[in-house]
Amino acid sequence: MQTQNAYYTRTAQWLHWIMAVIFIAAWLVGFYSGNFLSYDVDGSFKGIVITFHKNIATVILFLVVIRLFWRYTHPAPKLPDSMSPMMKTLAHLGHLALYVMLLALPITGCLFSWSAGHPAPVLYLFEIPRLVQENDDILMIVKPLHIYLSWAVGLLIVGHIAAALKHHFIDKDNILRSMLRQKD
Ligand code: HEM
Repeated sequence: MQTQNAYYTRTAQWLHWIMAVIFIAAWLVGFYSGNFLSYDVDGSFKGIVITFHKNIATVILFLVVIRLFWRYTHPAPKLPDSMSPMMKTLAHLGHLALYVMLLALPITGCLFSWSAGHPAPVLYLFEIPRLVQENDDILMIVKPLHIYLSWAVGLLIVGHIAAALKHHFIDKDNILRSMLRQKD
């Protein structure tokens, strides 16, 4: 274990920004496919878009394992003293919820795909071994779960970005910089 620092480690910063890009891209592609494409009108294009969604989103599952290990062994910087205890608790709960979503979205996505009889491919390179076979009972649960969780995480991400910008531009503290830089 290391002592607390004013900045996240370089590794934590890279993991944060790479996962942010992949997660938001996966979210946008999934949302586009789920709400703007249909097999009747768009035919095989919808299949191509969903396959792309799966191939990038499954990467999160691997990165989140590394990230949780890193977070456990390298404590995050302390929140500024200017924040009230309630705001600090809210920030910690928000971060916890984001970690839960980083696991829950790809897991429910894989279960959704498997139970519908499809694979869970990773970067067009290989497939995650199937943990469930085609199964309508499971599909009935995991499909709405994946969709509702994706909406909830959309709100969480908007809140997370708004909070980071407020800290930077209004409170003028070190929070956003701690995820971008190493030294003052
Ligand atoms: C990073 C994690 C993920 C995020 C943020 C995410 C996000 C989303 C979103 C926003 C939707 C559209 C929901 C709606 O209809 O309003 C969606 C749909 C879907 N997701 Fe994911 N997802 C993730 C992971 C996965 C994974 C790993 C798989 C499968 C391997 C998957 C399979 C699907 C499928 C099959 C749909 C339905 C698309 C359609 O109906 O056109 N997702 N996802």
